Amino acid sequence: MDDIEELRAKHLAAVAAARDAEALEAARIAALGKKGEISLKMRELGRMSPEERKSAGPALNALKDEIDAAVRARRAEIEDAALEERLEAEWIDVTLPARPRPSGTIHPVSQVMDELTAIFADMGFAVAEGPQVETDWHNFDALNIPPEHPARQEHDTFFMARAGDDERPPHVLRTHTSPVQIRAMQQQGAPLRVIAPGRVYRMDMDQTHTPMFHQVEGLAVGRDISMANLKWTLEEFCRAFFEVETVELRFRASHFPFTEPSAEVDIRCSWADGQLRIGEGDDWMEILGSGMVHPRVLRAGGIDPDQWQGFAFGIGIDRLAMLKYGIPDLRAFFESDLRWLRHYGFAALDIPELAGGLSR
Ligand code: PHE
Repeated sequence: MDDIEELRAKHLAAVAAARDAEALEAARIAALGKKGEISLKMRELGRMSPEERKSAGPALNALKDEIDAAVRARRAEIEDAALEERLEAEWIDVTLPARPRPSGTIHPVSQVMDELTAIFADMGFAVAEGPQVETDWHNFDALNIPPEHPARQEHDTFFMARAGDDERPPHVLRTHTSPVQIRAMQQQGAPLRVIAPGRVYRMDMDQTHTPMFHQVEGLAVGRDISMANLKWTLEEFCRAFFEVETVELRFRASHFPFTEPSAEVDIRCSWADGQLRIGEGDDWMEILGSGMVHPRVLRAGGIDPDQWQGFAFGIGIDRLAMLKYGIPDLRAFFESDLRWLRHYGFAALDIPELAGGLSR
């Protein structure tokens, strides 16, 4: 009988100590499996005297039932604990607010730069770049604007004085993207076809002027590129950019030192009720300057004007954005007013492309 008490204590303890299903099964087998201690003990019953069997038999059977019940109870506990743990781990508070959408937006000027880059890329123009702090030579001299030329005054230039250096002319904040024409010609030679979007600076401020604004320069140099190619390119660009057939352009004879002949281009628009609309109304808004590249400019860029000719244009990007997206005041572009940015901004993942539409 002492044996049985010992077995009972040992196996009930093993069952109670089992932490998971495998440990519990091992404890069960050690007691009740074919070769388990209790099973072996029961097999010994055959060899006992009838007297002994009479007391040991029921005791062993009772022990077997007790351990079996303990295993079941423990199994239920382990399963409950596992479920509890899983529920805890997979718990979601469905009352939490949804994850907020990213609140940043793409600025209309960035959007328009992407749009026009896509359009000109489709016409075979690569993107060229130049510095915003530019040498006097690239910004003026190389573009056929010598030091005493009146055009220098018209540009309302910001000068970058060099401390302790009064000898050389100061650098300037580039007043237009045209110096990139020179850099592109020097770097790539002819033939070439590039656009150069970027920031430019002039001391000027009213509803349609800010001291920093954006232009995109265009330059195409080839053996027989003509004014007709320029006109087609600009009209085609406007049609694609404004996504309408009815854009009306007006080419006006003009003058730039770096092009000959030169033309300024206006676009038909209306300002009715403080709303800016393109393709209708009786107003014209100047959006670009253009012309055939002056032979002196080609030469400054290292290209032989007897062999090559080309057209150039400079478009005001901010004005394009105002016209396309109906934004009446240019100054609002640069005030960083969050409500304005949310209203006029574009979703961060909307990449403009010709096939999918430029301005979804
Ligand atoms: N650079 C001129 C401007 O800023 C625009 C222009 C560029 C004109 C290229 C002709 C050719 O007004």
